[in-house]
Amino acid sequence: MDTLAEINIKGFADEYIDPTLDLFDEIEKLKKQKNAVILAHYYQEPDIQDIADYIGDSLGLSQQAAKTDADIIVFAGVHFMAETAKILSPTKKVLLPDIKAGCSLADSCPPHLFKKFKEQYPDHLVITYVNCTAELKAMSDIVCTSSNAVQIVQSLPPEQKIIFGPDKNLGAYVAKKTGRDLVLWNGACMVHEIFSREKITKLKERHPGAKLLAHPECEEVILQMADYVGSTTGILKYATSYPDKEFIVATEAGIIHQMQKDNPDKVFIPAPPNNAGACNDCPHIKRNTLEKLYLCLKNESPEIAVPVDIIERAVKPIERMLEISARLGL
Ligand code: 13P
Repeated sequence: MDTLAEINIKGFADEYIDPTLDLFDEIEKLKKQKNAVILAHYYQEPDIQDIADYIGDSLGLSQQAAKTDADIIVFAGVHFMAETAKILSPTKKVLLPDIKAGCSLADSCPPHLFKKFKEQYPDHLVITYVNCTAELKAMSDIVCTSSNAVQIVQSLPPEQKIIFGPDKNLGAYVAKKTGRDLVLWNGACMVHEIFSREKITKLKERHPGAKLLAHPECEEVILQMADYVGSTTGILKYATSYPDKEFIVATEAGIIHQMQKDNPDKVFIPAPPNNAGACNDCPHIKRNTLEKLYLCLKNESPEIAVPVDIIERAVKPIERMLEISARLGL
């Protein structure tokens, strides 16, 4: 357990936490008392994954947020994920352990600029990746995640013109997989753009049997080398279901905790970033810590607020995504 001094040095909490407290026990007690549920993304630190009621990718987390009967959702993820939960369950209190846990990809698409972009293509349908602000979702026709983007595009008539944003790498991957000509917004995720083709090539020489698993937010040069491309859940399932023993993982390194837990006899190597100072830990999602999670549940703050008019508009494209996903058994 961290001492208060350590907690303060890391900037993890501005409220005193008794260092003798077992935070796992305390969080469990608070959860029962308050009828709260903890939803966590695979990118979270191991302690948070271990205490979560549900761990998943963005699609799984949205599906859970839509159906939970808890009064409080503690969303251990980034801001857009908690916002999505609030949009889907507006009567519930949605908490984010660190309100500053943002997303470089969502930030790469300011809504006022996207509005102008969209106006240039009035006959196009707008599909937005869930990694965007609520305001952007409110301007969209369908939301998607990395696990259903290809299928959502395929579900539309071939003549349908489409704008895809904000991730240009996922968009290019979807365009290639579907053979569709998508108009792409030029956004990207700082973590997924960091991997080095040269270093991965060298790593593969040293581990010739290792399979490269990549998230579709990675650049095309990395995706071309990959043995499997998919969402975090897809990557986890691949590593578990295939008999291979070694895997190079090209996504945020938090996923490796679950991969290792499910497959203790296998070896998972984080894909190397392109320079020594780079890091494939997302600095935004990793702002959440067990200490902050405890405090946010105890204080019921920070709480996510989304204006009602945005909720009313943003819920439609998210529900459309959930309907298509349910129909396709995703
Ligand atoms: P998935 O949760 O769909 O795997 O995407 C993770 C993510 O948000 C990448 O930035």
